[in-house]
Amino acid sequence: MRSDFFGMSSVRRGVLALLAGTLLLPALPALAQSENPKRIGIIGAGNIGSTLGRLWIKAGYEVFFASRHPEQLKALVEELGPQSRTGTPAEAIAFGNAVLIAVPYKAYPELGREHAAGLKGKVVIDAGNAVKARDGAVADEVERDGIGATSAKYLAGAQVVRAFNAANYRVFQKNAGRPEPRMAVPIAGNDPKALETARTLVSDAGFDPVVVGELKAADTFAMGSPGFGHDLSAPELKQKLGVKP
Ligand SMILES: NC(=O)c1ccc[n+]([C@@H]2O[C@H](COP(=O)([O-])OP(=O)(O)OC[C@H]3O[C@@H](n4cnc5c(N)ncnc54)[C@H](OP(=O)(O)O)[C@@H]3O)[C@@H](O)[C@H]2O)c1
Repeated sequence: MRSDFFGMSSVRRGVLALLAGTLLLPALPALAQSENPKRIGIIGAGNIGSTLGRLWIKAGYEVFFASRHPEQLKALVEELGPQSRTGTPAEAIAFGNAVLIAVPYKAYPELGREHAAGLKGKVVIDAGNAVKARDGAVADEVERDGIGATSAKYLAGAQVVRAFNAANYRVFQKNAGRPEPRMAVPIAGNDPKALETARTLVSDAGFDPVVVGELKAADTFAMGSPGFGHDLSAPELKQKLGVKP
């Protein structure tokens, strides 16, 4: 049976939808009732989080933006309309079939600790970069152990895929959905199904996903590495990073 976007067959989704409509609906919180399988929670709605959220909304997704101050995101969701909403990180995690993490890296240890249960088994698209001046000790850890390993440590239990970290948000804004060749976005992760979800999210945002390897390969496109800061096509990026064509 063919699996769709988030790994659930359309038949199974239909059965679940039917059950939800008859038995479960009254017990579910309003946000979980959406039938749209393209639902993403975004933790951190600043430069990169809001840029990607806009692109996914354009592609038909429902997007839940979260921060520590969701009341400050009201203007954003009013502008973006009914496909968007805002609330707490816990609500964003529960809402999304996948979750984008787009907060300063120093927030990862606490975020991972506080939301360990919600993040268990979730596909997490991890866009954070570690910057010594902003993120302090955790940036030293990244320097020592690598960014993929550090994200996996703090977001333990989640299916982490590194993606969307390797360019400035303005570069994503400018190049999303550009005429062929599309801009390539390097991604890395350990779980094949999570990688598939990330590929779809990258593609739906208007870019070409390039799977560079497992999480440890994320170092090849981490901030300051040769794979960082490009708007290359997929063949060009593959060549730069030594990924098989
Ligand atoms: N800027 C870029 O072009 C770019 C590109 C690729 C990757 N990145 C990486 O993406 C991350 C975000 O960068 P940004 O430039 O988008 O930052 P930003 O504009 O400062 O936005 C950060 C967002 O995270 C929220 N936030 C901060 N701490 C939080 C916490 N503990 N829990 C929940 N939400 C929290 C902030 O809202 P509150 O303060 O209200 O909570 C804000 O919405 C960083 O790791 C950065 O290195 C940035």
